[in-house]
Amino acid sequence: MKAAYIEQTGPPEVITFGELEKPRPGSGQVLVRTGAVSVNPIDTYIRNGANYWPLPTPYVIGCDIAGVVEEVGGDVTRYQVGDRVWGSNQGLMGRQGTFAEFCAIDEQWLYPLPEGVTDETAAATALVGITAHLGLFRDGELKAGETVFVQGGSGGVGSTVLQMAKAAGARVIASAGSAQKAQICHELGADQVVRYDAQDVVSAVKQFATDGVQLYWETRREPDLDVAVNCMSERGRLILMAGRDARPAFPLGPFYVKGCRAIGFVMFKATADEQRECADRINDMLVAGRLKPRIDTVLPLCDAAEAHRRQEASTVRQSGQLAGKLVLIP
Ligand SMILES: NC(=O)c1ccc[n+]([C@@H]2O[C@H](COP(=O)([O-])OP(=O)(O)OC[C@H]3O[C@@H](n4cnc5c(N)ncnc54)[C@H](OP(=O)(O)O)[C@@H]3O)[C@@H](O)[C@H]2O)c1
Repeated sequence: MKAAYIEQTGPPEVITFGELEKPRPGSGQVLVRTGAVSVNPIDTYIRNGANYWPLPTPYVIGCDIAGVVEEVGGDVTRYQVGDRVWGSNQGLMGRQGTFAEFCAIDEQWLYPLPEGVTDETAAATALVGITAHLGLFRDGELKAGETVFVQGGSGGVGSTVLQMAKAAGARVIASAGSAQKAQICHELGADQVVRYDAQDVVSAVKQFATDGVQLYWETRREPDLDVAVNCMSERGRLILMAGRDARPAFPLGPFYVKGCRAIGFVMFKATADEQRECADRINDMLVAGRLKPRIDTVLPLCDAAEAHRRQEASTVRQSGQLAGKLVLIP
């Protein structure tokens, strides 16, 4: 089968698109014929040698997938040949990734793909959707009527947080780094958009939410926590989920006097049951048309290295060239 894989870590050029042996599903595993995959920033950190855990060699890159069940291993109870499925959390914690024509995946990380939802849509929603749901509801305990600030409302995570928060009855303020990104945030349903490149964020947020926001979602890898805490209401919650190497100054005084809470998480450490709960709600939203992933570009799988180049330039070097997800089709 064709796959995009690496045998050593390094720049995007270490990605080979070539032949690998088709995997066989082990006990509890499903063999998925891939319909679409998507890129996440973590794919580029791992490929670049982040060394979070040992990688198999060769290592197939990628976390997200949507496709059709081709074969089932022993003890599989949830799926049958021909079922359409989607999933995430692959290529992580030592598991093989998804950028291949076929993937053997533990059934616990797969979810039914509802009729009428395309493979591209599901692959683009997978990791960012589970992340947004965990952060807003398991950790952020978002309630209808609250105000949410999301940093980068046109980004992969940000555009999903924006739509899910709106669907839950929250008011949403999104930040954007250009007029075009601001327009996208409005189209995604933001009640207010703040231009972080042209406006003072704190005063713009306070104009809309006089008492501050109840939930502040930071997506930056180098956050300014002074700005964050300044924007937050009494007892506000701060969601932190990016920037492994970041060591920002922490505004302790205003934070504790306001009674705020900060919650950090990584989606891949959520249990299979927690992720399935998110996936079920995501399916409901996809079917109802209340969640539409923001897809920037669709590329063929043989362009995996180019996709990594674009993702890295946009997210890591902050070129801002992407608005949403890169999806690849085998
Ligand atoms: N903890 C987890 O489980 C988890 C899960 C998924 C992702 N992540 C991490 O979350 C981060 C975002 O991921 P993503 O997929 O959403 O990336 P992305 O699509 O590249 O989005 C990045 C966002 O950051 C915004 N941004 C860039 N520079 C900014 C600045 N100076 N001020 C304010 N906003 C700025 C961008 O807005 P503009 O385009 O408007 O500039 C863009 O919306 C990455 O670091 C990723 O590794 C963590």
